[in-house]
Amino acid sequence: MSDKSFVGSPRWSPGSTGAPRAELIEFLERAGRASPARDAAERWFDVVPLRQGQRVIDAGCGIGLMLPRFARAVGSSGHVVGLDHAEDLLERARERVHAEALDAVVELRGGDINRMDFPAGTFDIATTERVLMHQEDPTATLRELRRIVKPGGFVVAVEPDLRCCRLDGNVDLEAIQLMLERLVKGVRNPSVGSELYRRMHEAGLVERKLVPVSAIITRAEDLHFLRLRETSRKLVEDGLLSQERMLGALAGLEESSREGTLACFVGYFIAVGRVPEAL
Ligand SMILES: C[S@@+](CC[C@H](N)C(=O)[O-])C[C@H]1O[C@@H](n2cnc3c(N)ncnc32)[C@H](O)[C@@H]1O
Repeated sequence: MSDKSFVGSPRWSPGSTGAPRAELIEFLERAGRASPARDAAERWFDVVPLRQGQRVIDAGCGIGLMLPRFARAVGSSGHVVGLDHAEDLLERARERVHAEALDAVVELRGGDINRMDFPAGTFDIATTERVLMHQEDPTATLRELRRIVKPGGFVVAVEPDLRCCRLDGNVDLEAIQLMLERLVKGVRNPSVGSELYRRMHEAGLVERKLVPVSAIITRAEDLHFLRLRETSRKLVEDGLLSQERMLGALAGLEESSREGTLACFVGYFIAVGRVPEAL
């Protein structure tokens, strides 16, 4: 990646040497336990009609946080595939599935979600979470998900709109705003959450629904998924923020959180579209 400001998506490459992998796994575990990912995981089951006996794929399953829930929902007569191109993340998913004795229902596979090795119409539901934000062409990825789902089945995408992230508190708001802008700049498709209604249309999906799962975060520790420390270091490296101001702004977040004045709004969406019935 030649553009130095592009700090986000490359770390999701298979075997990326950018971020230490143990740190990446810990990042995913923590992000999954906090809003908005946790809220979206809960809402998913209200929005998508997943039933016993169905076949579902979690495309870009990462460390597989959702796989046990899918496996329990489809039961022993169903089948769940977790697919990811990062072998070490899949290994973590494998451990999780094994710990819950769900190996008979869940199959873990390496692969690229843009070119999957499944015949057309293999699944009832294809779902993906925080993956389209990192793809070169999210609409093309949605088309590939559509291809592997049978007519009448569903494609589901859960993604943020990082441009819909607003933070207030007794903090250096200007410095925090710079960090948020840097985060947006570092992700390939920072607004893909809001674009899903249109992109699903372009991918040929019908009966689309875009459900906001927006979170208000009031504890500094729950802002971990915004990676403000990482983005602020880049701002200091580029001479856009002094080290002192960066440290002051980050400390201010903690203080604002302790005194109860911090509120951060994050735009997060679940989009569902149906594969048209064959003519
Ligand atoms: C933010 S993580 C998603 C986290 C996941 N939903 C979970 O619960 O752990 C993005 C994931 O997408 C995977 N990924 C990104 N691009 C991919 C591609 N083209 N093919 C397969 N996996 C991909 C990454 O390896 C990573 O595991």
